[in-house]
Amino acid sequence: MSIFYRDLNHERIQDRWVDWEGHRQEINLLISRSLADGYQRNRAIVLGAGNCDDLDLYYFCNIFEQMTLVDIDALSLQEGVNRLAPELLDRIQLLGNIDFTKLDQVNFYSRFNDLLERKALTTEISCFLTQTPSEIVRCSLLEPWRGQYSVVISSAVYTQIFYIHVLTLLAVHASSYTAEEITVLMDGLKTLRDCMVKAYNDLMLDLLEEGGTIIAWSDVVKFDEQSPFPEEQFYAINNEMERMQFMFDLASKQGREAALTGLHDLHGRLHSQDRQFACWIWPYSSNRQYITFGISGKIVKGTT
Ligand SMILES: C[S@@+](CC[C@H](N)C(=O)[O-])C[C@H]1O[C@@H](n2cnc3c(N)ncnc32)[C@H](O)[C@@H]1O
Repeated sequence: MSIFYRDLNHERIQDRWVDWEGHRQEINLLISRSLADGYQRNRAIVLGAGNCDDLDLYYFCNIFEQMTLVDIDALSLQEGVNRLAPELLDRIQLLGNIDFTKLDQVNFYSRFNDLLERKALTTEISCFLTQTPSEIVRCSLLEPWRGQYSVVISSAVYTQIFYIHVLTLLAVHASSYTAEEITVLMDGLKTLRDCMVKAYNDLMLDLLEEGGTIIAWSDVVKFDEQSPFPEEQFYAINNEMERMQFMFDLASKQGREAALTGLHDLHGRLHSQDRQFACWIWPYSSNRQYITFGISGKIVKGTT
């Protein structure tokens, strides 16, 4: 059980379900557009379901016969479904304590922390970061669920999956290293982050049955009091294509790298003919908003 993610999810405020109504509607719209071909889809899995505040579980259970929700934070999953849709509990399978990165299986975080605590040389830490993907490849995850789902959904996972967690560990020990050494460590972490994000896309594809649909959304650009959303500029644009271009320009200048890497990698694996794209503002909290990108489609064979 990850205390880090438990604490993050536990920060949720009481009004979130109400505040996120528009966000849920955008997600439902993306889902309905993605499934509009009439093809029968029975089983869906949501990765990163967490508190379930962005998931309209009644809508999902109307569309799908069986639902599986997965997260590293088992307690938030259980509490989320109990709070939002207790009568659906017997139709929803909950899989908690699942780390999508498999880093838990190789004790990555405690080993990384040990290196920082004993002020290990950056060469030793870099070597550890470089060899981690080859250790992970040998671990397995969600084996019995592979190829079982007609729809695999990812709920704002790319920016959460690894980087913010590992940065909080590095921050505690940053004063032990010079600015140049921190740059070297950050470079190693970014490389590992991109590897984790792409491996997460691999996992989504592995869970999908042949001909199934992938749906993913992610926070991409953050706005807060210091850096507010440029509303005046945005609303001065009265054409949908130009508004979209405005969002893309913001994303390319200020977008979160993990989100851009994950969405770009996924985009490259989806058939262009039925690929869907959506973009909206997620009112995350009273002082924080995100430009959110959603994407969906079917997989091009040979990209798994
Ligand atoms: C931004 S939240 C998604 C919103 C969530 N569906 C909700 O409505 O509250 C991302 C979720 O991904 C989960 N998560 C982050 N990293 C993970 C990992 N490595 N393995 C599994 N779940 C992870 C977090 O616990 C969190 O619940």
